[in-house]
Amino acid sequence: MGLLFLAEWLLPLLLLCAPLSHASPAKSYVVYLGPHKQGAEVTERDIDAVRTSHYNLLGSILGSSERAHQSIIYSYTHYINGFAAVLDDAEAAEIAKNPNVLSVFPNKAKELHTTRSWHFLGLEKDGGVIRPDSIWEKARFGEDTIIANLDTGVWPESASFSDEGFGPIPSRWKGICQQGIKDKFPCNRKLIGVRYFDKGYIAEGGIVTAENATARDFAGHGSHTLSTAGGNFVHNVSIYGFAKGSAKGGSPSARVAAYKVCWPPVSEDQGGCFDADILAAFDTAIADGVDVISFSVGGDPSEFFSDSIAIGSFHAVAKGIPVVASASNSGPKAGTVTNVAPWLFTIAASTLDREFRSYVALGNRTHLVGTSFSARGLPAEKFYPLITAVDAKAANATITDAILCKPGTLDPNKVKGKILICLRGLTPRLDKGVQARKAGAVGMILANDEADGEETKPDPHVLPVSHINYRDGLTVYAYYASTRSPVAYITRARTVLDTKPAPFVAKFSSRGPNTIEPAILKPDITAPGVDVIAAYTEAPDPEQPYEPILPYNLLSGTSMSCPHVSGIVGLIRTAYPKWSPAAIKSAIMTTAVSRDNRKLPILDSSFKKANAFDYGAGHIRPSHVLDPGLVYDLGRYDYINFLCGRGYTTSMIRVFEDEPYTCPPKFSISNFNYPSITIPGLRNWTAVYRRVTNVGPPGKYVARVDEPEGVAVSVRPSVLVFKETGEEKEFNVVFKTKAGVRTGEYVYGSLVWSDGKHIVRSPLVVRHQ
Ligand SMILES: *[C@@H]1O[C@H](CO)[C@@H](O)[C@H](O)[C@H]1NC(C)=O
Ligand SMILES: *[C@@H]1O[C@H](CO)[C@@H](O)[C@H](O)[C@H]1NC(C)=O
Ligand SMILES: *[C@@H]1O[C@H](CO)[C@@H](O)[C@H](O)[C@H]1NC(C)=O
Ligand SMILES: *[C@@H]1O[C@H](CO)[C@@H](O)[C@H](O)[C@H]1NC(C)=O
Ligand SMILES: *[C@@H]1O[C@H](CO)[C@@H](O)[C@H](O)[C@H]1NC(C)=O
Repeated sequence: MGLLFLAEWLLPLLLLCAPLSHASPAKSYVVYLGPHKQGAEVTERDIDAVRTSHYNLLGSILGSSERAHQSIIYSYTHYINGFAAVLDDAEAAEIAKNPNVLSVFPNKAKELHTTRSWHFLGLEKDGGVIRPDSIWEKARFGEDTIIANLDTGVWPESASFSDEGFGPIPSRWKGICQQGIKDKFPCNRKLIGVRYFDKGYIAEGGIVTAENATARDFAGHGSHTLSTAGGNFVHNVSIYGFAKGSAKGGSPSARVAAYKVCWPPVSEDQGGCFDADILAAFDTAIADGVDVISFSVGGDPSEFFSDSIAIGSFHAVAKGIPVVASASNSGPKAGTVTNVAPWLFTIAASTLDREFRSYVALGNRTHLVGTSFSARGLPAEKFYPLITAVDAKAANATITDAILCKPGTLDPNKVKGKILICLRGLTPRLDKGVQARKAGAVGMILANDEADGEETKPDPHVLPVSHINYRDGLTVYAYYASTRSPVAYITRARTVLDTKPAPFVAKFSSRGPNTIEPAILKPDITAPGVDVIAAYTEAPDPEQPYEPILPYNLLSGTSMSCPHVSGIVGLIRTAYPKWSPAAIKSAIMTTAVSRDNRKLPILDSSFKKANAFDYGAGHIRPSHVLDPGLVYDLGRYDYINFLCGRGYTTSMIRVFEDEPYTCPPKFSISNFNYPSITIPGLRNWTAVYRRVTNVGPPGKYVARVDEPEGVAVSVRPSVLVFKETGEEKEFNVVFKTKAGVRTGEYVYGSLVWSDGKHIVRSPLVVRHQ
């Protein structure tokens, strides 16, 4: 009865609710109104007026200014004009019709692109002594350049951010040290400012409590990236006794500021760095007076006028602030690179010449090289019995679970005192070690499956572990099957330096071509991003309770390569404060190398020859960036012309440029003065124009071309004579298809200008159509 009653009672209510269910649930959106006029000092009054205009605009659609006040989560008031608001679909569609509104896009999540490195880059000699001719000395260690990082915040007590020896904060700094609700945040003369942006995160379901409403970094990512770009030299750093040495930032004398825009992921399929927060951080960082922005975050690329990263970074670059961004970790598949706007500096990741090795000896005297970060060795120097996880399976477990050493799948009676073989995959690598030890193993061999191939990881396991590649895994399984009493030994891990080949491009590093604008090569360059040591969070990790707290930690990703370049950009800013972001980027790109430490072409992680879609112009070479000879410069209007070339209408252009702008007739993107040249559809022939500026002494430069396969390339003129510094010269490059080429395939070459001393190299990328 009761149930029936309930149903009868529910029916009319459901009907009543029906019309409401047509209205979509409220979501948050970014409403973009264009840039603010630049120039004159902005007063509090101006900012209030802008804010009021946002309430009035939205109020006219929602019916009241009061509702607009409830709905708006951010007003962007400095360089970006717009707001973020919680709206339903119909309201979002309505506001998009307003003539003042240039674009409306949903507030979506982006994700993080999860030190030996400076030695490898040629900044110091063996033993960590800084070379007197190093860029560090020449650029005064990045003195007083202000580097901003948009990331997960910062761990302020880290020695990497101590202000010992730093003078007063540069007076042009306008930022703040935003206090947490409960966290008293200690900024200082090194870590000069922090802010956190959580409104876009909260609007999409993120939870921020009084305890975690702070710019403090609970994840470790932001401290790692910021200390790589601008952290102090910190001596005597090691991780479990490995990789002993100093942790160093690229611009160690720089001041740093953290803008926290990334929070724990909202759900499994949604990240924790939201558009509305990212845009707010860009707008504020520009106004705070930062000199370099480092951004190890990204999402799927989209057209520039509806991409918060492209819009936010455009305004920074237009103000002369270089923005360095990670290429993403979705490699090695083609077309996976993100952060592809031509004003961004997009960084791929490659290895260092350092490995953490442990050797596996099998009972039949075969020795294999594995990777390990386990400081402890086996209890005794002798062979131990070997067992596969499948043979060590508990009675109630399945073979497919046991082979992966999942929790509760191993029988301690079978494992005790042995070396256990586990397969990589599905469960965390560290957890497999925990399960092996729980079952009583003395050591573990972690073997890759076919998909993981060559890539092995040094992890801080709780027992001696050697992580081996797929091929060696097959050998171990074959040896195990070949004998009745298989035995093995694992050596203690040790740090091996000067490994060859190095660098090679990391498997995870995202690859070109650029899916938004194929005529712009992306990534732009590669830098160290594998097993990089830098500062970390000192907050305990509830999900990894068996891991000790590490003030310094080893991480891999384009997130790690990006701040290496930000640090070098910081040095160039100190040395040449007047150089444009494009000139800085050109100097770094044209001096990059495409050969490794064997003087052979750089390889990828399968040890095949890599190309410009893997590493852009090549591997960064800091020793040469302060003296590039020539640069390919670009200014604000070059970028606008680029957008004209993409066919942007007047209203789309207004997203980037407030003043009325008339596009030059028939501007071709191929003539956009980028330091690389990409022709995605070559038919018969084409000519592209470039302009170089002499930033060195007077000199005579001669062109030399390494032709892509099936293309005849000529440069006119092929000699450029510069009488003074600052002089500009134009030239064109003609590409002609040779007979019998295969269409649809990309081919690679290079153009070099040289005066005998400087080598100004640009990659050439062509696809025959
Ligand atoms: C803040 O802490 C709460 C409670 O511990 C947790 O649910 C939430 O996910 C945390 N949020 C962030 C942003 O760390
Ligand atoms: C380096 O650290 C170790 C232990 O962590 C300590 O014994 C040693 O004295 C330190 N060396 C220097 C130069 O600080
Ligand atoms: C098997 O049984 C043990 C002991 O009862 C239990 O701890 C474990 O979780 C079980 N494993 C599976 C895969 O069900
Ligand atoms: C040991 O066994 C493996 C697997 O059968 C085999 O590949 C390897 O050649 C053997 N080593 C020696 C020295 O026989
Ligand atoms: C361009 O190439 C096509 C074939 O690829 C050929 O038919 C055509 O004659 C060529 N045009 C010129 C102007 O060379």
